[in-house]
Amino acid sequence: MSFEEMYLIYHGLVLPRQSYCSESLRFAQEFTFKDDDIVVVTYPKSGTVWMQEILPLVLNGGDLTPVLTIPNWDRVPWFGTPRFALVVDQLASPRALVTHFPYHLMPPSFHTSKAKVIYIMRNPKDALVSSFYFHQMAVFLEDPGTFDEFMDKFLEGRVLFGKWTDHVKSWRHTELGDRIMYITYEEMVQDLPAALRHISGFLSRNLSEEAIQKITEQCSFNTMKANAMSNFSLVPKIYMDPDKSSFFRKGVVGDWINHFSSVQLARFTSVIQKELEGESFSLPWSL
Ligand code: A3P
Repeated sequence: MSFEEMYLIYHGLVLPRQSYCSESLRFAQEFTFKDDDIVVVTYPKSGTVWMQEILPLVLNGGDLTPVLTIPNWDRVPWFGTPRFALVVDQLASPRALVTHFPYHLMPPSFHTSKAKVIYIMRNPKDALVSSFYFHQMAVFLEDPGTFDEFMDKFLEGRVLFGKWTDHVKSWRHTELGDRIMYITYEEMVQDLPAALRHISGFLSRNLSEEAIQKITEQCSFNTMKANAMSNFSLVPKIYMDPDKSSFFRKGVVGDWINHFSSVQLARFTSVIQKELEGESFSLPWSL
């Protein structure tokens, strides 16, 4: 398949045709957000699917029913996709949705609503590695080529949803005030119960310690990997091929070290640092 057959360009961003079309994007632009909506925002491969497990559990006080009976793409749908248009009206409030959109592509009603945002950031070196393997298993995406070639594309923003630095800057410079909460993938890996307390506080949910423990177990890497409603085993192999790489691949912090040469590390670090020069926010890890 050619690049044009695989991807559409939306406001300069590369989007997979498998997941988006012009009608669904128009629907998203005209969509009316509600004040109690919750939007999970990530750059690809930063823990989106993890939050699709966490949120329904937090919002339902640890009741496992949604995550054991509804596929993740229907319980916390992808804003901007055709599926979103189909299922959003069936969601009970508060509705939770996910997106990779940058801030400026959110529709007018998002800005005027009081919808809350949880922004997950992941070390870009690990997001790159995760994305490299995801491109091997997601048959609807172009072959990533060698790791070196894929790193070039990543640094130039010729990948899904553009440059990592643009995405992070976009969601760091918002006028959302206390409507947005920032969390990192690394914090979630290091201490999930603490992350759950943080999230439930942000959403004004009072969870018992028992519920926190129950959610922690349900959202562990291994439990999610075994959950048919979360592990993409429902997706036909012609779209996602688990023989090439598992979606639940490693779920760790720092796997980049097994992939980057010292030359690649120097190049990667210098590009990212340069693009973040003068920014008012700092990264929670060294690059
Ligand atoms: P790896 O490829 O490094 O394993 P996204 O959902 O944004 O596409 O992110 C996918 C990444 O999140 C994958 O990273 C996946 O393994 C990881 N992930 C998903 N659920 C996780 C969990 N419960 N614990 C740790 N990592 C998780």
